[in-house]
Amino acid sequence: MDVRDLSGKWVLVTGAGSGIGRETALECGRRGAALVICDVNEEGLKNAEGDLRAMGREVVARRVDVADREAMRAFAAEVHGRIEAVDLLVNNAGVAIGGGFQFTSLEDWDWIVGINLMGVVHGCHFIIPPMVKRGKGGHVVNVASAAGLAGTEALSAYCTTKFAVVGLSESLRDELHRQGIGVTAICPGLINTPITSAARMKGDHARPEAIQRMLQTYERRNYTPDRVAQNILKAVQRNRAVAPVAAEAWLIYYAKRWAPGLLAWVGRTMGERWRRNLDGAG
Ligand SMILES: NC(=O)c1ccc[n+]([C@@H]2O[C@H](COP(=O)([O-])OP(=O)(O)OC[C@H]3O[C@@H](n4cnc5c(N)ncnc54)[C@H](O)[C@@H]3O)[C@@H](O)[C@H]2O)c1
Repeated sequence: MDVRDLSGKWVLVTGAGSGIGRETALECGRRGAALVICDVNEEGLKNAEGDLRAMGREVVARRVDVADREAMRAFAAEVHGRIEAVDLLVNNAGVAIGGGFQFTSLEDWDWIVGINLMGVVHGCHFIIPPMVKRGKGGHVVNVASAAGLAGTEALSAYCTTKFAVVGLSESLRDELHRQGIGVTAICPGLINTPITSAARMKGDHARPEAIQRMLQTYERRNYTPDRVAQNILKAVQRNRAVAPVAAEAWLIYYAKRWAPGLLAWVGRTMGERWRRNLDGAG
């Protein structure tokens, strides 16, 4: 899909009230698109809506929980009452849990699978069929993560959901190419957004000094979400299947293919060092 000029196109972004989703919606607006945006963060959603309207864009902004099947059904019905189909769907809304499997409760699993995986499934389920029916192509972006390419104890449940999003995206891409619809899984590395402060931290990861370090790591890395938005649109333009974003994500992408044992060893060594430093600080 040519996204250099999005005039006359409709783009739907979930989780557009903050971070990567907000910046992606704004970048699409700058390129001329009309936007459908949703989030559970009403204040963030209102701000994004205001910024898009200030650009003179048409906007439909709704408080929708992507994990809520009926809410997503009603949201999609409203959108399709107004337009035939969306041109670009960006399933971006997501949450994080830091910590190992043994510290993750079943309630945590329901929460993260509901949003990070079923939220993407709901977006695809309700938004793609009208795109197919219209027969004019389009593109689906699923925001996964570098954590969807290599597993780590530090993000056990999060990795699980993001691996699933990569698998779903690859399968969908295989299915939808006949209908001229591209599908891309975006795999960002460490991006400085509020996702870190909203994350549920478990086990040793919940210790104040661990949280402090994690926040500092993201701040020091300082890879901003507007750069991710640019990369998302570049990946759509090139119809990439998987698009790592930021150097550490590319490193994981290649290391997983060419040196998976080395990658696992580096991960374990860094984990041990993190633990020793934490014990020293505690
Ligand atoms: N920040 C990173 O380092 C990073 C790295 C890789 C992937 N990602 C992914 O990027 C996506 C965006 O994250 P971000 O970093 O911009 O975080 P963010 O917290 O800034 O934005 C996420 C947005 O999703 C919204 N959201 C959460 N649950 C929702 C729900 N149930 N229904 C609707 N909206 C909901 C939040 O309110 C928030 O506005 C997520 O899928 C995340 O997993 C982030």
